[in-house]
This record gives sequence, structure tokens and C-alpha cells, in this order.
Amino acid sequence: MQMITIISIWCILASIFSPSEALANCPPGCQCDDNTLVVQCGEGQLDVLPIALNPSIQRLVIKSNKIKTIDSSIQFYAELTFLDLSSNHLMTIPQRTFAYQKKLQEVHLNHNKIGQISNKTFIGLSAVTVLNLRGNQISELHQGTFTPLLKIVELNLGENRIGFLDPKAFDGLRQLRILYLDDNALTSVPDPVIFQAMPTLAELFLGMNSLLTIQPAAFQDLKGLTRLELMGASLRNVSHDSFQGLEELRILDLSDNRLARIPSVGLSQLVRLEQLSLGQNDFQVISEGALVGLKQLKRQDLNGAVKLKRVMTRALLDNGNLEYLNLSSNKMLVEQLEGALSGLRHLRHVVKKPNALSILAEDLFPWTNRVTLYLSENPIS
Ligand SMILES: *[C@@H]1O[C@H](CO)[C@@H](O)[C@H](O)[C@H]1NC(C)=O
Ligand SMILES: *[C@@H]1O[C@H](CO)[C@@H](O)[C@H](O)[C@H]1NC(C)=O
Ligand SMILES: *[C@@H]1O[C@H](CO)[C@@H](O)[C@H](O)[C@H]1NC(C)=O
Repeated sequence: MQMITIISIWCILASIFSPSEALANCPPGCQCDDNTLVVQCGEGQLDVLPIALNPSIQRLVIKSNKIKTIDSSIQFYAELTFLDLSSNHLMTIPQRTFAYQKKLQEVHLNHNKIGQISNKTFIGLSAVTVLNLRGNQISELHQGTFTPLLKIVELNLGENRIGFLDPKAFDGLRQLRILYLDDNALTSVPDPVIFQAMPTLAELFLGMNSLLTIQPAAFQDLKGLTRLELMGASLRNVSHDSFQGLEELRILDLSDNRLARIPSVGLSQLVRLEQLSLGQNDFQVISEGALVGLKQLKRQDLNGAVKLKRVMTRALLDNGNLEYLNLSSNKMLVEQLEGALSGLRHLRHVVKKPNALSILAEDLFPWTNRVTLYLSENPIS
């Protein structure tokens, strides 16, 4: 008992008078660990980058403070591999700020007030693989902005105000795999020339822009794309050739748009598609063979289609591998789903709450013993 007390007192004293903290200047509210070389500051009032931290630190995390700019003191920390200054008050990043940050691999500047970036902003960041600029006020991307980022794999530009993209804005992003451009001010799908700069792109997020339509062959250079997100993009229509060339696409989200019809012909080119979200559109009917050609489809979300009244027999004729179907919150869906789901031998989960669905045909679920049905809140009679 006594021994434990002594040890714990010793620990407290040691942590107060730790020589490392005495030498390197650790700001109040921060933890500075000279063994792991991590400096982490809690939510607070810091308004400049601390100077006189251990110059060998590798990770610097100062989230939710009031830092207004990244000044030249960053240059003292040339060993940094990870920098997180998210949720501060950053408004500008001076040119060449990161010129000495040759080892930085991840930079998180999300949720600040950064308004402008240029082709001088990221000079020096030749080892960065992840750059997060989500939730800022960037409106234009000019020529060569990201060219210094030779190794970048993931670039997050979501929740900004981007309305102008120079055709050469993304030049040099040969290894980029994930690009977030969702929730910006784009009025059309970026020009195919822009996508030519990123031949290895696997995931593209373009939702929450006012795209209205998708021009034919818009994505044809993205041969390796596996995920495309177009949720809430004000889409009125999708042309027959909109998805041309997307032979590797596995996940497509077209939910929360204004599509009056399921774009069956366009979708039929996506031969590898496994997950499709089509909810919150303006369909009234899902007609026979609506998802023709989608033989690999496993998961489908069709919730919140407020105008949907009927799912025709044989609507999912070609989708024999379907395992999960979510038909929640389709208030007008009063038709029986008779036949529409028969033949779907792999179906495991059907979610249909709370629809207006009031009659269930007895032969609707011949395999009920194997299927999880979520029907609560439905007025089943
Ligand atoms: C950087 O931007 C300036 C001004 O927009 C432009 O003139 C110059 O060509 C660009 N440099 C590169 C390397 O893209
Ligand atoms: C698709 O929608 C756009 C924007 O509303 C419109 O200009 C275009 O004519 C439509 N195309 C077709 C084929 O309906
Ligand atoms: C079905 O979709 C609704 C709306 O997106 C969602 O809230 C719900 O969790 C989904 N149900 C299941 C069981 O996945």
C-alpha cells in the first residue's frame, strides 16, 4: 500500500518536473512528449504556432484553437511527418510556407477560413500523401496548384466554394486515388481534361454541387474508378453515355437528385456495380428491367422516393445477386411488390419502413425463413 503511494507520488512529481518539458517550451494545454516526438494541444486559445518546441518533433496536433496563419516558425520543425491544424482560424497560407517540410506526409488544414491557394502554396511538400482542405473558403483552383505534391494519394477539397477549376489545376497528380470535390459551387462535371491528369483515381466525390446533368463520356478517362458519389447534385437527367468507360465502378450514389426516371441504359454499362443508391429521386415507377445488366448488384438503396408508387414485376429481373434492398420512407408505395422480388435468391435484408405498403401478397416472400424483413411502422393489414 505504502509502496504504491510512494510510486504514484513519484510519478506525479516526475511529470511536473520532467526535464524534457522543462527544456523544450511546452505551451499550457499541450502535451509534449520527447520520446514519441509528439506535440498535442487540446482545444484552446493558441493564436500562433508555438516556437521553441523540440525541433525534432514528428507530429504536431493543434486542433480547435485560434491560429490565424502558419508563419515561418514551422521551418524549425523540419522532421514533421504529420501536421494537424484543423478547426483553427487560418485565413492564408503564405507562399512557400512549407518549403522545408520535406518529410511531411499528412497535412490536415480542414475547417479553417483559407480563401486562396496557389501554385506557390504547397511548394516543398514532396512527401505528402494526404492533404485535407475540407471546410474552407477556397473558390478557385489555378494552374499547377497541386503539382508540388508529387506523392499525393488523397486530396480533400469538399465543403469549399470552388466554382472555377483551371484545366491544369490538378496537373501532376499521377498517384491520386481519392478526390473530394463535394459540396462546392461547381455547375458542371469537371472537364474530362482535368480527369486525364489523375489516371489512377479510384474514388471521386462530386455530390452537393449543382451539376444538373452529366455530359456523355464525362468520366471516360477514369478507367480505375471504383466509387463515384453524385448525391444531391441537382441532376435532372443522365445521358445514355454518361457512365461510359467506368468498367471498374463498384459503388455509385445518385441519391437525392431530381431524376424522373431510372437511367437504365446509362447504368447498364456499369457491369461491375455492386452498390447503388437511388433514393430521394422523382421516380414514380420502377419499370420492368430497370436495372438491366447489373448482374453483380448486391446492395440497393431506394429510400425516400416520395413519388414512387409502383415497383413492376420483373423490375429486378437481372439482379439475381441482390442481397440487400432498402425501400424505406417511400410514402406513396402502395402497390404490392408481387413478383418484383421473386427470383432474388440471395436476398437477405429487405427494409421497408415506414411505407404506405398495406398489403403483402402471400407469395411475395417465398423464402421468408431466410430473409430479415424490417416492416415496422407499416400499416400491415
Ligand atoms: C503558377 O501560376 C502562375 C499564375 O497563375 C502561372 O503564370 C504559372 O505558369 C504557374 N506555374 C506553374 C508551374 O504551373
Ligand atoms: C438534361 O438536363 C439539362 C439541364 O436541365 C437540359 O439542359 C438538357 O436538355 C436535358 N437533356 C435531356 C436529354 O433531357
Ligand atoms: C434504410 O435507409 C434509411 C434511409 O437512408 C436508413 O436510415 C436506414 O438505416 C436503412 N436501414 C437499414 C436496415 O440499413
